[in-house]
Amino acid sequence: MPTYILGIESSCDDTSASVLCDGKVLTNLVANQEIHKSYGGVVPELASRAHQQNIIPVVNQAISLANIEKNQLNAIAYTRGPGLLGSLLVGSSFSKSLSMGLGIPIIEVNHMQAHLLAHFIEDCGEEKPKFPFIGVTISGGHTQIVLVKDYFDMKIIGETLDDAIGETFDKCGKMIGLPYPAGPVIDKNSKLGDPKKFTFTKPKVADLNFSFSGLKTGFLRFVEKASKSKNDFIKSELNNLCASLQYTIVEILFEKINLAVDKTGINRVVFGGGVSCNSGIIRKFQDQKNYKTFFPKFEYTTDNAAMIAMVGYLKYLNKDFSNLKKGAKSRYKI
Ligand code: KG4
Ligand code: ZN
Repeated sequence: MPTYILGIESSCDDTSASVLCDGKVLTNLVANQEIHKSYGGVVPELASRAHQQNIIPVVNQAISLANIEKNQLNAIAYTRGPGLLGSLLVGSSFSKSLSMGLGIPIIEVNHMQAHLLAHFIEDCGEEKPKFPFIGVTISGGHTQIVLVKDYFDMKIIGETLDDAIGETFDKCGKMIGLPYPAGPVIDKNSKLGDPKKFTFTKPKVADLNFSFSGLKTGFLRFVEKASKSKNDFIKSELNNLCASLQYTIVEILFEKINLAVDKTGINRVVFGGGVSCNSGIIRKFQDQKNYKTFFPKFEYTTDNAAMIAMVGYLKYLNKDFSNLKKGAKSRYKI
């Protein structure tokens, strides 16, 4: 008998549902919330309201396009955290109610673990990473280096002390008038700019930790000063600003990952999270030959329910079920 898992993701501003059959993705639907664009960032209250509107149609469609009936589902996996509490509550309470209605187990999933375990989805990449590996979760809310010894044996060995890498892209982008999320726009503009045109100071942070707040402030001060002496500075230098900022961020990440490889002696580096589709990051890491890198297929980089259902499937095989008493957790360690 095949095993069908429904995955539900609602940790930030994407409502997503996915059906997996024996670990293979049948459907993976994502409803993006356009409403945040005009605010220049995610507004938590609006996000949870939009999840409430989207969740039923997205789940219904994920099940019907998978060509199965609800009562064929074996379990429901949902994002317990980390994320925005209001957003998580919509997904968690919906998942609990549906599991109760259908009389099937519920499985809690850590969103950051899911970003790394997305690599075990059948069509995620050509090759599955072997354990142990160094996991790198880079998203709008996180920047972590994780020692991954097994599917559920993960330990954070480095993380940001302030802003996340995606947040840095988004906030610096906002400073130069780019729409939210600015990460993909900076990536696109960078291709037309000179990465060495402007120099931004890289932070000095001990061990495997990161800090991006100084870079953000330095970028702001630089742009403000340059705009005073040249009115259309941002417009005329947009591509060079994007390329130079991206170059600096990539260098910061590259230095820390090299250090992590040296310290651990592990030569497999697995990326996950929205920022891992950045073309500058992919190029830089794929150009080096000291360790093997794994980047997820594009649709499994940003928030998606297929990765939640994948973790659900792995936990289902272990009979690692949750219960109705467990609730959403905005802070939830890997
Ligand atoms: O994983 P994700 O979808 O959501 C979180 O859990 O945060 O990541 C979203 C982040 C945003 O900050 C967005 O700007 C960034 O990923 N991002 C990128 C690119 N595509 C998405 N950053 C840099 N370059 C990209 N191509
Ligand atoms: Zn994410």
